[in-house]
Amino acid sequence: MLNGKTIVLGVTGGIAAYKAVELLRLLVKSGASVHVIMTSSATEFVTPLTFQTLSGNPVHTGIFNLVTEQEIGHISLADRADLFIIAPATANFIGKLANGIADDLLTTTVMATKAPVLIAPAMNVNMHENLIYRENEEKLRRHGYLFADPVSGYLACGWEGKGKMLEPALILDEARSALSLKDLKGLKILVTAGPTREEIDPVRYISNHSSGRMGYAIARAARARGAEVTLVSGPVSLGPPSGVELVNAVSAEEMRSAVITIAGKFDVIIKAAAVADYRPAHREVQKIKKHCGEESVELVKNCDILAELGKMKRSGQTLVGFAAETENLLKNAAAKLEAKNLDMIVANDVSAEGAGFNVETNIVRFIYRDGRSEELPLLTKETVAGEILDRVLILRR
Ligand code: PMT
Repeated sequence: MLNGKTIVLGVTGGIAAYKAVELLRLLVKSGASVHVIMTSSATEFVTPLTFQTLSGNPVHTGIFNLVTEQEIGHISLADRADLFIIAPATANFIGKLANGIADDLLTTTVMATKAPVLIAPAMNVNMHENLIYRENEEKLRRHGYLFADPVSGYLACGWEGKGKMLEPALILDEARSALSLKDLKGLKILVTAGPTREEIDPVRYISNHSSGRMGYAIARAARARGAEVTLVSGPVSLGPPSGVELVNAVSAEEMRSAVITIAGKFDVIIKAAAVADYRPAHREVQKIKKHCGEESVELVKNCDILAELGKMKRSGQTLVGFAAETENLLKNAAAKLEAKNLDMIVANDVSAEGAGFNVETNIVRFIYRDGRSEELPLLTKETVAGEILDRVLILRR
């Protein structure tokens, strides 16, 4: 979504300016061409050289800079931008923008742009609650400015409360959302992701290598495209995607009850989770002691959540499963599509390099009920997520 886009990142003078460096890195990593404008206060917190080095573009700090104005004038920046992001945005900047004051390069350029503007405020909790600030924010929202809302936490000024800038990874989600077509608007989508853990005793468990990346990418992309998304996630180390309702589950049984109780209300269900097929027959209350001889753990079969969803599928609901295979990809995946009553299955050979578990990329093949199949090349999981959602839309026509 950000690949090839031109983004202007405005940095104003707050302590969270250091986090704008991480945001810049994430934007560049996503393929965007980023031009940074700093207010003079921002340069007191982080040097322009840091932003210049990471963006690979000159940093703009003053409206009367002869060199940058000649090379790339501020109006040209305003015209070329696909998106403006202001992070951090101080109460002062927001106040100026809300009242039409354009007295520096950043406010002038933001006022001159027709591109969407995403504002990530960061300030003291009392300033954030101040009624004049609230009026300014409301006014900007009414005029179509987008906000990446701050969160509660410990603030650099010593206070605790709402005013902490949203984490850069979540601002990135909001940026993707700002640039996406809202072609999934009106759809409720349930995604599952990550592994499950089946406990043997208080310190040991059976699990698999799923990192959750594939499912989280689908949830993020669906939300960016306007869907209302619930993500049921096994234990992973990823942060929750912005704007997605997250339900945590540890074991297959927990995931089953989380999914089955809410499944009926979703238009689309996409099951990327790697659910353990078996669990120990008994979970020992105390840690099992090491003995000299061999030990074995008796396993019992877990319920197949996807098969259950296939049985209860209501008309108008689209059910997409995944198949993680190491051999006979097409044959095994097609059998799962049939047995679980799916509309489409995403087959991945998890033994192929760059595919499957715990990597940033995947190689998938879509298989449909009518026997058709499509093979995709090695792609990032973000791109695969977009491709899956495109197919879901086609299936629902
Ligand atoms: O999380 P990542 O590190 O990004 O890795 C991505 C992935 C490899 C986990 C993902 O691409 C993937 O293949 N997910 C499905 C893994 C899996 O469990 O495949 P399976 O072939 O064993 O199961 C088939 C389908 O049935 C899956 O949709 C699975 O969610 C579902 N299932 C399986 C067993 C079970 N008891 N209940 C289920 O619902």
